[in-house]
Amino acid sequence: MSSDRRKFIKQLGGTIVLSSAALSGFAAIEDHERRLLQVEKRVSANDKIRIATIGMGIMGFNDTHAALSCQGVELVGCCDLYTGRLQRAKEVFGANIFTTADYREILDRKDVDAVIIATSDNWHSTIAIEAMHKGKAVYSEKPMVHYISEGLNEIKAQQETKAVFQVGSQRVSSLAFQKAKELYQAGAIGQINSVEASFNRQNALGAWQYTIPLDASPQTVDWNRYQANEKVKLPYDDNRFFRWRNYREYGTGVAGDLFVHLLSGIHFLTNSKGPDKIFSIGGTYYWKDGRNVPDVMSAVIEYPESKEHPAFQVTLRVNFISGEGERSSTKIIGSEGVLFMDDDQGFTISKNKMPVAPGIGGWDSLSTFPEAMQKKLMDNYNAKYTAADRQSPSLPGVTYHSPEGYNSSNDHFANFMDAIRTGKPVVEDAIFGFRAAAPCLACNDSYFQNKVIHWDPVNMKLV
Ligand SMILES: NC(=O)c1ccc[n+]([C@@H]2O[C@H](COP(=O)([O-])OP(=O)(O)OC[C@H]3O[C@@H](n4cnc5c(N)ncnc54)[C@H](O)[C@@H]3O)[C@@H](O)[C@H]2O)c1
Repeated sequence: MSSDRRKFIKQLGGTIVLSSAALSGFAAIEDHERRLLQVEKRVSANDKIRIATIGMGIMGFNDTHAALSCQGVELVGCCDLYTGRLQRAKEVFGANIFTTADYREILDRKDVDAVIIATSDNWHSTIAIEAMHKGKAVYSEKPMVHYISEGLNEIKAQQETKAVFQVGSQRVSSLAFQKAKELYQAGAIGQINSVEASFNRQNALGAWQYTIPLDASPQTVDWNRYQANEKVKLPYDDNRFFRWRNYREYGTGVAGDLFVHLLSGIHFLTNSKGPDKIFSIGGTYYWKDGRNVPDVMSAVIEYPESKEHPAFQVTLRVNFISGEGERSSTKIIGSEGVLFMDDDQGFTISKNKMPVAPGIGGWDSLSTFPEAMQKKLMDNYNAKYTAADRQSPSLPGVTYHSPEGYNSSNDHFANFMDAIRTGKPVVEDAIFGFRAAAPCLACNDSYFQNKVIHWDPVNMKLV
């Protein structure tokens, strides 16, 4: 094990002991830690996993670094459609790595065990299905698919090939979500009834106006290959290539991009298969830069009662011009408390339990009745309930924050590598990935078609 890793795991244990005095046992995190240690131990020199990354943009570099943070992982090659990013990949990862603009050249290589797919959303499914059929393990960035119609085919490809397949909503591997799930499932907030989750941003980069390189042109960008799957071919456009998220032809709007993180976290905590009713509104309120997807969007989503949970509703919001600044949170509201997730880095649980006695007087109908009747009602009440019955029980809350420098992507990749080596299930498989993505894509359908979308979360079909 690298000394950095050892130091980190030591620090992890320390932080937990210090911050969890109110809790007996931090089982989920201890398990998590044990699993990481086992992964570290199992790796020998001839137990290497050789990876290649397809799509070397912002997330391609981040994911590659996270994958290489796992023991016994080696980078063989990178694929991208812009020459500058392949040049940068060689600068960062070494001049010897193989580079290409054609992902099929990566999939044909016998020395590649696993691929990371970090392209724009429009290519995830096509490449993932081909990769699984070529015998590769696949780490696909979220959202798993660009269109709902792609989901079942991708699940089928995974089931036929039995490829190890993980979707990249890393929060489900985070220490904070692991621990929160343990407490939530133990009943910490009673019975769930609603969730409020959001992402707020307030800058041009956050609103997807990323930097465009100085040499961007059809000479440096393989534009024809980029739009090979598109029915309508458009002339080369810097914005459509480097700021693809702003166009629904290549991206999935704020719903596919960010709601999907929120729903992945909610589904992970509640073990939910998903909602059955979805409605959303949105608009381009501020970033009037030619984008054809909203910069502010809200959705109301209903989860039916199932064996995993009671019925509850979710409101989601992304606001790209929020005076609140940069912030993401998920507030899970139950009958006996609130679980507040601060992005994927920490959480607070506050408990509020109702007293046994229902209450009488104050803001009540009591004072509107004749005096003699009020007295009788009070006598009856006093005879029935003790002083203790009238008190809300005082229950301690819980606060947890992951250690400084903690990166959930590293753990998400550790889980993926572990599955490749041991055959153990991944934390975020194709069915989980599709069940999180489809309702988000349905938010886009709801917005563009101005109607409620009905979804069958068990069979994963629009109804
Ligand atoms: N898990 C997370 O937290 C997280 C964060 C950011 C982005 N993402 C996801 O990662 C993906 C990439 O996002 P990004 O911000 O890195 O975008 P980006 O624009 O920075 O990079 C995308 C790269 O993919 C390349 N590409 C597109 N089609 C290709 C193809 N057919 N073959 C080879 N290369 C191709 C482009 O050339 C580009 O360099 C998106 O799907 C996004 O949703 C996930």
